[in-house]
Order: sequence, then C-alpha cells, then structure tokens
Amino acid sequence: MFAVYADSFSADDPLSGLVVGERPDPEPPEGWTTVTVEAASLNHHDLWSLRGVGLRQEALPMILGCDAAGYDEDGNEVVVHAVISEPGWVGDETLDPKRSLLSERFQGTFADKVMVPRGNVVPKPASLSFEEAACLPTAWLTAYRMLFVQGGLKPGDTVLVQGAGGGVATALISLGRAGGLKVLATSRDERKRERALQLGAHEVFESGARLPVRVDAVMETVGKATWSHSIRSLRLGGKIVISGTTSGPDVADAELTRVFFLQLQIIGSTMGTRGDLASLVTMLDATGVRPLIDRVLPMTEAREGFAAMAAGEQFGKIVFTR
Ligand SMILES: NC(=O)c1ccc[n+]([C@@H]2O[C@H](COP(=O)([O-])OP(=O)(O)OC[C@H]3O[C@@H](n4cnc5c(N)ncnc54)[C@H](OP(=O)(O)O)[C@@H]3O)[C@@H](O)[C@H]2O)c1
Repeated sequence: MFAVYADSFSADDPLSGLVVGERPDPEPPEGWTTVTVEAASLNHHDLWSLRGVGLRQEALPMILGCDAAGYDEDGNEVVVHAVISEPGWVGDETLDPKRSLLSERFQGTFADKVMVPRGNVVPKPASLSFEEAACLPTAWLTAYRMLFVQGGLKPGDTVLVQGAGGGVATALISLGRAGGLKVLATSRDERKRERALQLGAHEVFESGARLPVRVDAVMETVGKATWSHSIRSLRLGGKIVISGTTSGPDVADAELTRVFFLQLQIIGSTMGTRGDLASLVTMLDATGVRPLIDRVLPMTEAREGFAAMAAGEQFGKIVFTR
C-alpha cells in the first residue's frame, strides 16, 4: 500500500530520512481492526521521529503519523485514537508505562490503511469533515486535556497560550475561547498574532512581552524559549501545564525560587484518553468550533508539509488526504 515513512534518522536534516513510497498492508491481530484512512494530519511528533527522538533504530522503517480519520471495517466513519495501551491495561491509558503512540511501536497513519486495537476508534459525527476530524487525535486532544483535565480550568479563568502559531497552540486558543476562558496568546510573528486574534484570542503579545495581568494558568509547548516568561506571567498559586518543549528542554534558569515562593504548580500533560477524545469530539459537534487548517495536501506531497513544519511556517494544522 501507499505510505509515507521514516527510513533513517538525522538530527540536523530530518527530511533526509523521509520516504514517500510503498509498505506492506497491515495484518491486524485478534482484537485489532483496520481503518481506511481518508485524512491524516501532521504533528511535530513526526519531525521528532525523523530526528530519532522517541523512535528506535530497530523500529525502522516506520510509517509516520499519529492522527487519522477514515472508515472502519464496517464502513462507519471514525476518528482514530493514537494512544495504544498494553492489552489488559485498565484505567487512564496515558498512565500506562507501556503505552505508545501510533508510529512509535505500531505503524502510523500516513498510509492507505492503519491498524489499531478495536477500542481505539471513536465515532466521527457527520458535522465534522474527515480533514477536520483528522486534526483531533494528537494536537487537539492534547490541548483539550491541558485546559480542562490537567489544568482544571473553568469559565472565567484567564489563560496564556505560548507560541500561538503551533498546532497545539491554535487548538488551545479555539478550545479555551469556546470553554469560556479569557485567552491571551504570544507569538514571535506579527502576522501570527493577528491571526490568533481572529481565531479567538482576546489579547496577543510579542513573545516575552510583559502582560497587563497575571494569569491563572499558562499552556506551555515551547519550553526553553518561553519558560521564564511563563513563570513570571502567573498569579500566586497559578499553574503551568506543559506538554512540549519545541525550542528545547534545557532551561538556563528554572525560576525555582518563584515556584516555591509564589506557590506555583507545574503540571505535565500528554495526549489524552479515549474518553477525552470522545468528549472533545462532542464539544466540537455541540459548539461548532472547528480545527484551524493551515493547508490540505495530497499524501503524495507529504514532503512539502514536513518542510513547512520544519521551517515553522504553518498557522494551524497541516492535513494530508488520500
Ligand atoms: N505531550 C504530548 O502529548 C504532545 C502532543 C502534541 C504535541 N506535543 C509537543 O508540543 C510541541 C508543539 O507541537 P505542535 O505540533 O503544536 O508543533 P508546531 O505546530 O510545530 O508548533 C510549535 C510552535 O512553537 C513556537 N516556537 C517554536 N520555537 C520557538 C522559539 N524558539 N521561541 C518561541 N516560540 C517558538 C512557534 O510559535 P510562534 O511561531 O507563533 O512563536 C511554533 O508555531 C512539540 O514539541 C510537540 O512535540 C506534545
């Protein structure tokens, strides 16, 4: 079958290991099902994989992609849940020490077909297109869990979203607004700040700018470049929810004195449960909020999408279609 996969790693030139070609069809074991992929979306995770982060050499060649929407074996329209827990695991699958994401241990979604455990599909409402639904399993699910599960935010709270242009960040802005939060956002790029306002941010700022108010919570995916600003933007007792470190994890100053003196909370967040994904789908169906799509490309032109993400050009999600 057609597939977009990683054949080798390069930290400096990740696209050198990307192949657009053919891979064997999936052979689902007992309890698994095959989804015919109609649309899939790109995440920074896919670039990390090509850099050799989170993917082992022995696992190559590996079809990339965590996110997909398509048809299950009975012809139902479904969204794929990308977190694969061990058979027999009970409870929150993001806490399973042996969990993996599609494209880490099991083949990913940038292909004609992907196999997943039967429980790893969620019905797609007719109100969402395949392209929109394909944006949800990683970036949007992560944003949903950061705000409403790990962050525990409620209507009327004020949140700061760092790095407004990212896939997770645009989801945080849209979902935060729809959830009744006051949304502040930063971006390095003036055009991205403008677009963040159009998307629903109440106020936007240059990265690192002093804010007029202290916020209840900061949503972090940038890491090193914004960490200090995130800490300094919080009210006493405020919280940072962190799910990524795009600019690197090695902060020069973790601001530990402020952390204890201001009684701040630092909360990690990774992906979400199947239940979170189902709630997210329902929220979109009920509110009319839709993922912001930067561009849609045929999967045969996946390289163009990877290059745009590597250059940080996108605003919103990059989607591949069959
Ligand atoms: N834990 C999880 O489950 C999970 C799930 C999804 C994603 N993630 C992680 O979250 C991060 C974001 O993912 P994504 O798919 O949203 O990536 P993305 O679309 O590539 O977004 C990254 C954003 O970070 C900002 N940024 C990058 N470098 C920066 C710098 N040096 N200074 C300031 N801002 C910078 C940029 O915003 P501006 O250009 O607007 O400033 C950029 O748009 C990645 O590290 C990813 O691995 C984790």
